[in-house]
Amino acid sequence: MPMLEWNESLSINFTEIDDQHKELITMINVLYDMMISNNNSDQDVLNIISDLHTYILEHFGAEVRIMKKYDYPETPAHINEHKEFIAKVNEVENLCNNGAANTSMEILNYLSTWLVQHINDTDKRLGMFIHSQSAN
Ligand SMILES: [Fe+2]
Ligand SMILES: [Fe+2]
Repeated sequence: MPMLEWNESLSINFTEIDDQHKELITMINVLYDMMISNNNSDQDVLNIISDLHTYILEHFGAEVRIMKKYDYPETPAHINEHKEFIAKVNEVENLCNNGAANTSMEILNYLSTWLVQHINDTDKRLGMFIHSQSAN
């Protein structure tokens, strides 16, 4: 069973960002499957965390570009939330580097909960703002 599942209730009504969120969910699920299975080497886990890290930075970069394009008033607070997430990704990466896969599962739980909450609240507010601007 996947750790997270995409459904329409997670849509922020902005296709580019929705597609990236789907990809993030897929990556977290791959990481979760790897962590609970004994068939993967630590290096496999580290590789996917590294891919996740790269993708997160790209995704957050895309959101920041959109926020700046639309002169979004909540940009600083939104960026601060992203920074919090990046710090946790760093933490899970460091733990896995040190072979602490059990502890990293707790952080993976945190990451998946954070992601859903952030999409549902912070990213959705951004999506609504874009639509309010486009309607003008
Ligand atoms: Fe965001
Ligand atoms: Fe996002």
